[in-house]
Amino acid sequence: MNSSVTFSRFIAGTMKWGAWGSNFSTDQFGRMIKECIDAGVTTFDHADIYGDYTTEEAFGAVLKKDVAIRKQIKIITKCGIQKVSVNRPVHKIKSYNTSAKHIIASVENSLENFGTDYLDCLLLHRPDLLMDVQEVAVAFDQLKQSGKVLAFGVSNFKQSQVDLLHSVFPLKVNQIQCSILQLEPFVDGTLDLCQQQGIIPMAWSPLGGGNLFLETEDERNRRIIAVARILSEQYNSAPDVILLNWLLLHPSNIHPVLGTTNPERIRLAQKALNFKMTREDWYLLWRASTGREVA
Ligand SMILES: NC(=O)c1ccc[n+]([C@@H]2O[C@H](COP(=O)([O-])OP(=O)(O)OC[C@H]3O[C@@H](n4cnc5c(N)ncnc54)[C@H](OP(=O)(O)O)[C@@H]3O)[C@@H](O)[C@H]2O)c1
Repeated sequence: MNSSVTFSRFIAGTMKWGAWGSNFSTDQFGRMIKECIDAGVTTFDHADIYGDYTTEEAFGAVLKKDVAIRKQIKIITKCGIQKVSVNRPVHKIKSYNTSAKHIIASVENSLENFGTDYLDCLLLHRPDLLMDVQEVAVAFDQLKQSGKVLAFGVSNFKQSQVDLLHSVFPLKVNQIQCSILQLEPFVDGTLDLCQQQGIIPMAWSPLGGGNLFLETEDERNRRIIAVARILSEQYNSAPDVILLNWLLLHPSNIHPVLGTTNPERIRLAQKALNFKMTREDWYLLWRASTGREVA
């Protein structure tokens, strides 16, 4: 049985909040968290490695200061990537580790960083070529039984890898790169499998990491932005809201993980929940992205 944990439809991605981006102070982390909660974005996406293993703790400093916040939010974090970092001197090369020992140690560390006694969801960050699903299932089961993790999932897993792990332990989430610039999940079976197995697809880089707006010389980007601007007038919403709405229309129940560090953009994004573009408009954007009519 899949866990009954639910997530806000938009998720706040914290990758760029700390040392890998805006370098927010504790007060700024606090303001951003509050802005997200006020906007209805109550789920926060983390990974042990963000900010070179520092962002969980920087976020946790807010939770430790104001303990009432924990109950208002859901925390997702990830493990399984071992980065070379001054903060992990034992790592000689970048590698993946989904051994039970590593998963459990990583969760204990995350719990301490956040100052909480449970995580709402734990994801395996990348498919580990040496993944032993029976061993992963034992670790997940132990974490579930102890109440330290409520739900489990994966990230960047292909269909066969999801199938393999899901056959021994029920997965709740597959977090994948998915946007108007990253169309593979729509056609390679990833989103189909999510629907079939009741797994929530979370879309990371839902706006292509911002490249769409920055790389204006790129022909494909120009085509997409041109259509998004036309639709923007039609639906009275900003082009980024249009592109988020495009993801929401897919029946697999995509949960976009917003990467912005700007509270105004978090608030604006919510407008995407208030309308549905037509099928023709959806395909207009698809055509702009692929550069050709569907067959
Ligand atoms: N599972 C994985 O392997 C994985 C990998 C990567 C990321 N993630 C997760 O996904 C989250 C989102 O990823 P992402 O940051 O690539 O997402 P994104 O939302 O596609 O991109 C965010 C970037 O786009 C910029 N942006 C957003 N709207 C814009 C606009 N209207 N005009 C100009 N720039 C705009 C933002 O700048 P501002 O900050 O100035 O708004 C920010 O730099 C991460 O925080 C992380 O939690 C997961």
